[in-house]
Amino acid sequence: MAFKQRVFSGVQPTGNLHLGNYLGAIKRFVELQQTYDCIYCVVDMHAITVPVSVWGGPAELRRATREVTAAYIACGIDPNKHIVFNQSQVAGHAELAWVFNCVARMGWLGRMTQFKEKAGKDRENASVGLFAYPALMAADILVHRATHVPVGEDQKQHLELTRDIAQKFNNDFAESIAANGHEGGFFPLTEPIIQGPGMRIMSLRDGTKKMSKSDASDNSRINLTDDADTIAQKIRRAKTDPDALPSEEAGLEPRPEADNLVGIYAALADTTKAEVLKQFGGGQFSTFKTALADLAVAKLSPIAAEMKRLTADPAHIDAVLAGGSDRAGAIAAETMNAVKDIVGFIRH
Ligand code: TRP
Repeated sequence: MAFKQRVFSGVQPTGNLHLGNYLGAIKRFVELQQTYDCIYCVVDMHAITVPVSVWGGPAELRRATREVTAAYIACGIDPNKHIVFNQSQVAGHAELAWVFNCVARMGWLGRMTQFKEKAGKDRENASVGLFAYPALMAADILVHRATHVPVGEDQKQHLELTRDIAQKFNNDFAESIAANGHEGGFFPLTEPIIQGPGMRIMSLRDGTKKMSKSDASDNSRINLTDDADTIAQKIRRAKTDPDALPSEEAGLEPRPEADNLVGIYAALADTTKAEVLKQFGGGQFSTFKTALADLAVAKLSPIAAEMKRLTADPAHIDAVLAGGSDRAGAIAAETMNAVKDIVGFIRH
């Protein structure tokens, strides 16, 4: 069966969004609107897989859900042409996740590196939801029968699991799928659209660590809500080394901080590191940092201003999510009716 080309992706509403989320994910989501029908989700049910003390409780969850929604819109996602909604408002996500919990094997989920990292040593104390997280993620994607999913490198394994679940469902229920009139499998084998490693944005304090919302130092990241002065100051203070910038990309290899700043410039300017080095190679860091600060402020402060405007009106954001949920819900309901018939759940 030929599946309609459709993009799905999600961002968790935990903590503040930063430059890594923008350049590594949301900027790509915006571009994909040109070529695909897109569904962009705020995955609030994934957010609660960690302890309440970590995700912050109900008020914080609502705040962060609205903030991610505002960021989607402020960065250029059009919630009218495409779909923006929060996961928990479309029951099909949880319903399909249950079916997938019964399709996926313990062994498959036990091999997920993200689970192993997040659960740490005290696995007995991890939530069942943290273990089952990738089955919910597969349900997110497949309840919309999405064919393409833009994700970072760290989510590649979850995408492979999504394909394994789709494949096993298609095999386990092959007869029933055919009997219900679905030719050639029910779920698509979804393709990841993986960001190149160049899109990994690293900490401004340590070029070997990913930029992260959980880093204790706020100077390690640029938040999407930072104002112009804060952005410029963080870039000026970013860690560098004493040498001048190299003229060739190879010269960046042993210099993670320089590599990161040049990568950020290239991503913000929609160009390559090689091009950036043609312009700034041989020069001092201070000159480059001034140019980078100007560029970052020019690109990011309109986003921050728009996010501020949007989050000042939570009722408007909630209305966007409600509208998106209705439209996503219609797609999910169609899938769930078919899944129930395929599995043998009686429905009226
Ligand atoms: N696990 C993803 C992350 O942490 C978020 C996510 C949940 C997602 N469901 C998804 C991403 C479905 C893509 C598709 O980044």
